[in-house]
Amino acid sequence: MDLFEYQARDLFEKHGVPVLPGIIADTPAEARAAAESIGGVTVIKAQVKIGGRGKAGGVKVAKTADEAEQHAQSILGLDIKGHVVKRVMVAAGADIAEEYYFSVLLDRANRNYLALCSFEGGVEIEQLAEERPDALARVAVDPGRGIDLEVAREIATAAKFPADLVDTVAPVFVSLYDVFVKEDATLVEVNPLVKTGSGAIVALDGKVSIDENAEFRQPHHAELADSDSADPLEAKAKQYDLNYVKLDGEVGVIGNGAGLVMSTLDVVAYAGEAHGNVKPANFLDIGGGASAEVMAAGLDVILGDPQVKSVFVNVFGGITACDAVANGIVKALEILGDSATKPLVVRLDGNNVDEGRRILAAANHPLVTLATSMDDGADKAAALAAK
Ligand SMILES: Nc1ncnc2c1ncn2[C@@H]1O[C@H](COP(=O)(O)OP(=O)(O)O)[C@@H](O)[C@H]1O
Ligand SMILES: [Mg+2]
Repeated sequence: MDLFEYQARDLFEKHGVPVLPGIIADTPAEARAAAESIGGVTVIKAQVKIGGRGKAGGVKVAKTADEAEQHAQSILGLDIKGHVVKRVMVAAGADIAEEYYFSVLLDRANRNYLALCSFEGGVEIEQLAEERPDALARVAVDPGRGIDLEVAREIATAAKFPADLVDTVAPVFVSLYDVFVKEDATLVEVNPLVKTGSGAIVALDGKVSIDENAEFRQPHHAELADSDSADPLEAKAKQYDLNYVKLDGEVGVIGNGAGLVMSTLDVVAYAGEAHGNVKPANFLDIGGGASAEVMAAGLDVILGDPQVKSVFVNVFGGITACDAVANGIVKALEILGDSATKPLVVRLDGNNVDEGRRILAAANHPLVTLATSMDDGADKAAALAAK
């Protein structure tokens, strides 16, 4: 989960990273009040989860509270690369002498942590990495040791910070690493990290991505979720505790086990080519249990997607045998009643498959078609979606 800049700012503050005062505002009047309370020059900053806000007109300097109100007026509602601004942060204006770059991230490819740092910040980091790779230091960080003062100094030195600055920025890198580890982040990025006219180091912009797998030990992260922008179907699936990802197609997919669901998506996409290019509408793994309640919840989410034209239920009976799954499907359709309106193709295989198929055939539900194999099911579901 990516955080807004103001949320990153709050986490920075919590872990001792130097930041400037910042107050969020949802209306121009609130922005004026915030600017008055901060005093002096302020910067009005669009709060959207996308970079390059400055260039897009989403970051503006205000000398007075009047100006802060006007800028908020123009920034609120602005569309920045498809993200509409609903909130701004009024931040104290910094007197910038120099801009640097620092980030620490989970390096999946190398199964390690990685720090990126440059003495030349303020520019787009992708651009810097491409045009002047020498200016961007990449330092592998041993997760067992982390970034202590000594490692922080190594990073600053590799990034070509002058010797007298190394000791000034190193403690800030240590605090940023604290944010990374203690908040279970996968990315902590500061661009720009600045030196002010008086020589202080301040994080002016922050980007933090939180690892949602750590939810269980980070209860306070629930407050950071942006219920406004979450897909309503994904939010509903979350309530049911389902592993659901909305995609942009017409064939709803339910399966048990992530691997089976992933391959079902492939098979449906392939079968769809012969039926007007219909595509899978979602990923949904109902896990090992496949009880009637879970099946009903899954169908409820998928049928709520107006794009869905048919559903392919692809279950391999293991510990939960096919007869239990078949009963689950029959009961789920009872639970859903009239809200089940779209054709379902069911493919069962594995443990107790004959009994499972017998139960579904006996129930003879008008919406349900039985498939003999995964390819057959995908083809039937794609054909129904294309109708
Ligand atoms: N509080 C601030 N005071 C002064 N200048 C700022 C402040 N915040 C941002 N800026 C300037 O605006 C630029 C863009 O802001 P930033 O927060 O980095 O947004 P983005 O990266 O989305 O463009 C920064 O590089 C910095 O020069
Ligand atoms: Mg920035």
